[in-house]
Amino acid sequence: MCGIFCYLNYLTPQTKKYILDTLLQGLKRMEYRGYDSAGLAVDRCCGDKSTVIVRERGKVASLEKLVNVSQELNMDEVCNIHCGIAHTRWATHGEPAPRNSHPHRSDANNTFVVIHNGIVTNYMAIKNFLVEKGYTDFESETDTEVVAKLALYIYNENPSTTFQELVETLIGMIDGAFAFLFKSNKFPDQVIATRRGSPLIVAIKADVEMLTEYFPILYSSDRTSSSGVNRNEIPSPSGHSGGDLPNGTTNINGRISPGTAMTASAGSGEFKLGGKTPVEYFFASDASAVIEHTNKVIYLEDNDIAHVDNAGGLHIMRTKKKHANEKDFRSVNTLQLKLEEIMKGSYNYFMEKEIFEQPESVVNTMRGRLNFETGQVVLGGLVEHLDDIKRSRRLIMIACGTSFHSALATRQILEELSQLPVMVELASDFMDRHTPIFRDDVCFFISQSGETADSLLALRYCKKRGALCVGVTNTVGSSISRETSCGVHINAGPEIGVASTKAYTSQIISLLMFALLISADRISMMERRKAIISELEKLPKKIEKVLELAEDLKKLAEQYQKENSFLIMGRGYNYATCLEGALKIKEITYMHSEGIMTGELKHGPLALVEATMPIIMIAVRDSVYVNCQNALQQVISRGGKPILICEEGDEEIVRLATDKDGNCKLAQVIRVPKTVDCLAGVLTVIPLQLISLYVAVRNGLNVDCPRNLAKSVTVE
Ligand code: G6P
Repeated sequence: MCGIFCYLNYLTPQTKKYILDTLLQGLKRMEYRGYDSAGLAVDRCCGDKSTVIVRERGKVASLEKLVNVSQELNMDEVCNIHCGIAHTRWATHGEPAPRNSHPHRSDANNTFVVIHNGIVTNYMAIKNFLVEKGYTDFESETDTEVVAKLALYIYNENPSTTFQELVETLIGMIDGAFAFLFKSNKFPDQVIATRRGSPLIVAIKADVEMLTEYFPILYSSDRTSSSGVNRNEIPSPSGHSGGDLPNGTTNINGRISPGTAMTASAGSGEFKLGGKTPVEYFFASDASAVIEHTNKVIYLEDNDIAHVDNAGGLHIMRTKKKHANEKDFRSVNTLQLKLEEIMKGSYNYFMEKEIFEQPESVVNTMRGRLNFETGQVVLGGLVEHLDDIKRSRRLIMIACGTSFHSALATRQILEELSQLPVMVELASDFMDRHTPIFRDDVCFFISQSGETADSLLALRYCKKRGALCVGVTNTVGSSISRETSCGVHINAGPEIGVASTKAYTSQIISLLMFALLISADRISMMERRKAIISELEKLPKKIEKVLELAEDLKKLAEQYQKENSFLIMGRGYNYATCLEGALKIKEITYMHSEGIMTGELKHGPLALVEATMPIIMIAVRDSVYVNCQNALQQVISRGGKPILICEEGDEEIVRLATDKDGNCKLAQVIRVPKTVDCLAGVLTVIPLQLISLYVAVRNGLNVDCPRNLAKSVTVE
């Protein structure tokens, strides 16, 4: 939720138009993170470093229109050095409106402006404190605005404070989750970025060769702060101290003085940025926003403060080392992402592209890991911990949304092949229950983004209790992939559509490969494993066959587009498909939809069945086939006319739904290729993904950015 972006060009002359286009394009790349309003802040002009803020409700395109007609900005002016920040919002505090959009400002002069992803939980305490001090000109209902005003307060208390000291003091006073970017006309041509719990990267574009892949951390001491402000001034309702600052004052020591270019001391060599060397910096919530400019990125860690000074130098600071073996450098990573991967190509919607990419994405998940001839599975990220996993007491799969469904979809095969108890948990509920966790538990955190707040909290909870934590994510460098001890990257490629599709099928494949790996030396499982591996090899072709149903499903969507409700029924391996299909329908069509386990039909849901109720039933020839046939008959005998998803060649079930006069009681039959039971869900979910896509398109809804939702939910 919320996308933040900064473009700072140092000794790289750019027109204001280029700068604004770069900021807007960065936001567009991250629009999936939030899209109810957007805003940006740039310098008025080269000679006047006062800040201009432009904010608008709605998508980035609305902001763009406003920027293009702004009288305050001279598009042709060339800026040799400039810092611009931009934000796309997913509202938490305050309705979507220009006044609640970011950047937020400290005062009418825009002395400090800030953009934020996350939540400031003690914002009321800070606000009361500021009001008492005479800072009363609040303009918004957001939690973020207090941060801009707090920055001004700290500055006013001691105008000789440096930008770094100011931000370090400030984040020590804040509770909650955040990624912040600060810009100030008191510190022109500079930017400060910091994070705690929300993702943030720095990307670097420079013509100099970087001889080292490491960036040293500079630590401040715990001595008296020259900012002169003390965290204890803010009452802490939660009793929780904000960051890793001591409750007291602090200052920054060992800081490279402004004007000095950065020299890396850790690592194998040294490189200089800034000084006389031109350099461009990009800060973003997500790598997809920077990839068109550079592939060199640093993933900031919680409580890092990254500062680009007015000599173009980048400094990464922390208050103090928490433990002796804490890394005292940040690596410069080379992104493997390609621009085409985050473009729509010939498709109209990202969701459509991602659904149709599934024959490829499942191959990418298996590539180099599964040898179809020998049956050998290698998951490099788990090698060192495999023995611990095999010895564990139970496997606990923790996730939210679609990722939770992928855990449900694989639970049965994991239980069967691992012979371990497998629990599947919604991260929020897991935390609400303070679930007991033991040192010999293995906890899996499944998350496309690797940033979901509830899953991340659950991870920290399990880690603290000594469990082995395994990440299953689609995002290299994400918080979950960094904070787990080991894991599997699902390699589905970037997923931009808010409704998850290809990540779901790749999560299933990843978890299934894990089940194959853990059972590799069990003789009794050989035949079963062989059958699964052989079907995994055929899977891409079978997915292609399901995708050939697209035109039929478009027609079906036309028939059902005006309905208010959809029930999706199944059991066994396909129960997860029902839940996931229902989630797709509600996410992007806004219809009510429910996934129903047919074993529960008689315990309530049957009351909903009547001729006009749209129902989809899933029945494949697996161990619960007979139960599914029974459920189908029950639905038909109550007047229901379901759409049936079944296997190619299954005439038996169609006969069952046909009365003695030859009238078929099914609204439509959707046939998918036959596969092994534990893989059927990968095929049966695709018609549901397509139905939801086509219904939403027919109803003129924004498929990729459904109302009120965001792709990456980084708040609880
Ligand atoms: C949000 C997204 C869903 C996603 C869920 C979990 O709700 O809209 O598509 O399934 O978060 O996200 P994660 O990144 O942890 O898989």
